[in-house]
Amino acid sequence: MDSLARFAHDRMDCLAADGVVRQLHAMQPLPEMRIRVDGEEFVNFSSNDYFGLAQHPAVIAAMRAEHMAGAGASRLVTGTHTAVSALEEDLAEYAGTQAALVFGSGYLANIGTITALADKADLILADRLCHACMFDGAKLSGATLRRFRHNDLAHLEDLLKAQRAHCRNCIILTETIFSMDGDAAPLPEILELAKRFDCWVISDNAHGIGFMTPQPTAGHIQMGTLSKGLGGYGGYICATKPVVDLLISSARAFMFTTGLPACVIEAAKTSLTLLQSDAALRQRPRQLAKHVTESLGLPEVPGAIVPIVVGDNDTAIEAALQLEEHGIWVHAIRPPTVPKGTARLRICLSAAHSDAQVAHLIDALKKVL
Ligand SMILES: Cc1ncc(COP(=O)(O)O)c(C=O)c1O
Repeated sequence: MDSLARFAHDRMDCLAADGVVRQLHAMQPLPEMRIRVDGEEFVNFSSNDYFGLAQHPAVIAAMRAEHMAGAGASRLVTGTHTAVSALEEDLAEYAGTQAALVFGSGYLANIGTITALADKADLILADRLCHACMFDGAKLSGATLRRFRHNDLAHLEDLLKAQRAHCRNCIILTETIFSMDGDAAPLPEILELAKRFDCWVISDNAHGIGFMTPQPTAGHIQMGTLSKGLGGYGGYICATKPVVDLLISSARAFMFTTGLPACVIEAAKTSLTLLQSDAALRQRPRQLAKHVTESLGLPEVPGAIVPIVVGDNDTAIEAALQLEEHGIWVHAIRPPTVPKGTARLRICLSAAHSDAQVAHLIDALKKVL
């Protein structure tokens, strides 16, 4: 074995010892939120396609309307397709901001924005349950990074009192609906603290689109993705025009990567229009989540993510395997995606699930848990 293969092999042994080896499965999407994985059929309760827009006929038709499969180069090199500008206008209007900027993915939007706004003279305070890409952006920026306890305003205030005066700028990172816990941030109170201590807030709305009405965040940044509730691919930032101008000229994760294909943009634009115009579509996943939480005696959630924390990794994997026997696909979420000792089943409801599929999920969960 060469030294590189030996290195990879040894590292995999360490991951195996920690129970965090990841495996890819051959998956084929089927209609009605079903998937075929390694030849077996399941109802998918792990997808972030909360409104079923990934398979919506109008969204798929919008992709076909545009024949360019690729953008060819960075937007700074080949220019911005008119479809992209139109989507950016729609996103800014949706968020109630002056401007928006589409990135290649939500991951790139977060790391690009955070690194463009902060450096070693600055302080970043992040909710400890923020998504990995917010932490990656914070670390890449070189700013001093401190984590505050999840949704703990008193802890955030303590950190601000102790540290704000010693740095140039301060950015607070949070999520509107947390990806692995499904709960919401106290955004108005965080914005209030930001005002008192002169900080900027980046609120990651990746899992909130369609569930959370955008709040007035003048002077701050709303980040989002086209890849979850909108059922497509890509990410975006909504902010004031000067901030968007700065990102265009300095966010490396925007500048040095190829623009999204226009067909992907057309799909996202169609999804956003559908989501905004259809209140019943927006409400359905949340109603289904409420049905699940009530049936299982779990706390109500503001969106469509229902976490069932089981603790250790093996228990979570075993529970997911047992659900598979009931024809249900729910991924076991383990560290480092979530803190150690909080492995869980993360159940995502979608408007595209039928009532019968959700009833079957509840029955199976009662047996497995
Ligand atoms: C909260 C949050 N932010 C950002 C991202 C990254 O978005 P994308 O999948 O579009 O790269 C994710 C995806 O898992 C997420 O859950």
